[in-house]
Amino acid sequence: MFDLIIKNGTVCTADEMFKADVAVKDGKIAAVSEDLSGCECAKVIDASGKLVLPGAIDAHTHLAMPFGGTISSDDYFAGTRAAACGGTTTVFDFVLQDFGETMVDAVKRRDKLCKGRAAVDYAYHVAVKDVSGKLLDSIEEAVEYGVPSFKVFMVYDFGVTDGVFYKILEKAKQCGALIGVHAENNEMVNTLTEKFLSEGKTSAWYHYMSRPEFVEAEADRRAIAWAKALDTPLYIVHLANKDGVKAVTEAKDEGYTIYAETCPQYLEFTCDVYKREDGRNFVCSPPMKGEESRQALWEAIKRGDIDTIATDHCPFQTSEKDWGKDDFTKIPNGCAGIENMYPYMLSAANEGKIPFTKAVELCAANPAKIFGCKQKGSLAVGKDADIVIYDPEKDFTITNEAMHSDCDHTIWEGVKLHGYPVQTYSRGKLVYDNGDFVGEEGWGEFVKCSLK
Ligand code: URP
Ligand code: ZN
Ligand code: ZN
Repeated sequence: MFDLIIKNGTVCTADEMFKADVAVKDGKIAAVSEDLSGCECAKVIDASGKLVLPGAIDAHTHLAMPFGGTISSDDYFAGTRAAACGGTTTVFDFVLQDFGETMVDAVKRRDKLCKGRAAVDYAYHVAVKDVSGKLLDSIEEAVEYGVPSFKVFMVYDFGVTDGVFYKILEKAKQCGALIGVHAENNEMVNTLTEKFLSEGKTSAWYHYMSRPEFVEAEADRRAIAWAKALDTPLYIVHLANKDGVKAVTEAKDEGYTIYAETCPQYLEFTCDVYKREDGRNFVCSPPMKGEESRQALWEAIKRGDIDTIATDHCPFQTSEKDWGKDDFTKIPNGCAGIENMYPYMLSAANEGKIPFTKAVELCAANPAKIFGCKQKGSLAVGKDADIVIYDPEKDFTITNEAMHSDCDHTIWEGVKLHGYPVQTYSRGKLVYDNGDFVGEEGWGEFVKCSLK
């Protein structure tokens, strides 16, 4: 006897779309078959005219993150509640290592905040700050613990030096970890920032001007050069510029394992947003770039040179963004997006920009594969029953009022989508139903990842 059968829908995987019924038992996909009529089942849902998709995996979030003089405004409950309502059933949150702390201690410290709070399943990456003494070796312990992915920042006051980055890549190669990188040239950012401030150029536009295309591109190329030198994989987070795209394409064509992630905000907006009255709400790093970069990202998606879409969800309240009204350096960096990723990419598919299979590949299948999240990202029998039912006919205009995050605004306000998720299941449990969060705080479980 099954717990749930989703009947008459069109199943969409990363490879194909086909009419099928999907059965769930004990939180797992139990059957995917042309016709499950006649099977005993506690509950049957009719998904005629709808798509049945694997839940998305957001491989890049910053929940309750201390940053920019405050803490990002979605905690583990609010952020994962919003995720569920946008069809995202697993989030990878960044644990920022403290100086002197081992990688596993950092994970355990953050897990105390998350345990009992998350509404969907979660995993972690560790953002590495300190590899002094035995701390470099503690990467191995984290890999065994189920956290085999790490990030280095080339910017911010907690960014690492080139030498430390190299050491981390070397260790990752030794123990089978994957390193992600926030690539921007810190020296250039600081130099340009100083110059603009001294000239009295303090508006949000100068956030972009102090981190233009070449500032990101140069760092992308440098990071790729080291990964190539060591012949170890590298994952570039939130890629946003056209020359960085070119560098990724070249490295892939040469046969190197360089993964690239981009975010919906870089696919939708350009640097022109920084000229708007509410421009500071769009301040994130790297900033949105010019139209050519936006186009280059879409072309790279179509070519297969972008591997994943993630959100970099790191929202701050309007009052905090306002700290930078007269000085862009005081604006906490980051924007909300956790609820918008899957609907945005699926809407692009619905409008014919990319195939639906591509949206599933980028938002679910690839993050599961790349980060070793083996029970997620697919509707194959035996996988977790993380399922989204999507109505391609439902038009939706994004408003902050309709979102489920704790942030008081969204950069996505007014963006129109064609098609929208109507239900989300997390391990077989209904957590989102036609506009409403119906899940439970604490339902989410830690997902152990393994790259072996
Ligand atoms: O502006 C951003 N992206 N804030 C979050 C931290 C980061 O750089 O990923
Ligand atoms: Zn970053
Ligand atoms: Zn980030």
